[in-house]
Amino acid sequence: MKLLITGSSGLIGSEVCYYFASELGYEIHGVDNNQRAVFFGPQGDTRWNQQRLQKNLKRFVHHELDIRDRQRVIALVSKVKPDFIIHTAAQPSHDMAAAIPFDDFDTNAVGTLNMLEAARRACPESPFVHMSTNKVYGDRPNTIALKELETRWDYADPNYEHGIAEDFSIDQSKHSLFGASKVAADILVQEYGRYFNMPTCCLRGGCLTGPNHSGVELHGFLSYLVKCNLEEREYRVFGYKGKQVRDNIHSLDVARFIASFFGAPRVAEVYNLGGGENNSCSILEAFKITEGFTGKAQHYTYVDENRIGDHICYYSDLRKIKSHYPGWDITQSLEETIRQIVEAWKQRA
Ligand SMILES: NC(=O)c1ccc[n+]([C@@H]2O[C@H](COP(=O)([O-])OP(=O)(O)OC[C@H]3O[C@@H](n4cnc5c(N)ncnc54)[C@H](O)[C@@H]3O)[C@@H](O)[C@H]2O)c1
Repeated sequence: MKLLITGSSGLIGSEVCYYFASELGYEIHGVDNNQRAVFFGPQGDTRWNQQRLQKNLKRFVHHELDIRDRQRVIALVSKVKPDFIIHTAAQPSHDMAAAIPFDDFDTNAVGTLNMLEAARRACPESPFVHMSTNKVYGDRPNTIALKELETRWDYADPNYEHGIAEDFSIDQSKHSLFGASKVAADILVQEYGRYFNMPTCCLRGGCLTGPNHSGVELHGFLSYLVKCNLEEREYRVFGYKGKQVRDNIHSLDVARFIASFFGAPRVAEVYNLGGGENNSCSILEAFKITEGFTGKAQHYTYVDENRIGDHICYYSDLRKIKSHYPGWDITQSLEETIRQIVEAWKQRA
């Protein structure tokens, strides 16, 4: 079985490569050009992860390719003819997108179109999984009635006691340019499913995290927060009293879900995929858990202005994904995930 994956040197890409190569014995074709280092500078460099894959996985082939290069993308997919395509390459930061609007849209929207059309021409029956984001909902989740607790915000409206579901509106709210380019990609992926009957799936991620993230201030909050703690550097909290809530999912559980989808693919599906309420935490709560593992106090400053369009409280309603794939569940708790991130940064240092 052959898997083609874009963004293979990134957090989700590399986890998927390991999972499918080691656990399932796939031949893996990874596409990445270390664009993360261009977006975020040396701190975002993912070459170390690419080298780890090339060293440790026997059936891994790296393709140095920019997904914006339409002709080369079409040529590669037609040559490999993969049994499964997973698309994780992206410009992933909403704040960064405003500084590089063309690069953001060309990567997230046009790059996704390139992948879809290449797949339609070469292997329309191969399942196609796309990493989308909860930012497709824009800042509309902030209109839900909230209650303020001691260390976090939570939903006061009982309609959201399980979190945000897939039928939540993506329309008429502020998305950031990143959210807008990801909406375009999300709709394209659904359309290739509905219009061409291809087995496509959008995974609208909450906070995807894990030990192999190259976290930076603008993307990968938990990885970056742990790094700041270990290096005794100041972490900047932007607004909402530090009580903003994110639901965190370990990249291994994302990879496990993707394998479940491949086992029983569906057409034009959309799932919210985060850690759900049980794996949610506020920034203040993340500080406490991290301090428990490192023994170091977290230094931070408070900036009294939230990031534009940032969610005050977001956790995924996991009922749809679990009902379609009852064999899948979250296996990595928030505490265990943070413990692994602490250990990984210590080793990389
Ligand atoms: N990490 C999160 O919290 C999160 C949350 C929601 C959604 N997502 C989505 O999940 C996906 C994966 O996220 P991640 O955290 O693994 O990101 P990441 O930045 O760790 O990995 C993405 C990889 O794609 C590569 N890449 C970027 N542009 C490229 C291009 N033009 N051509 C080839 N390669 C390119 C980068 O070099 C990087 O290695 C993205 O689509 C992201 O929007 C992530």
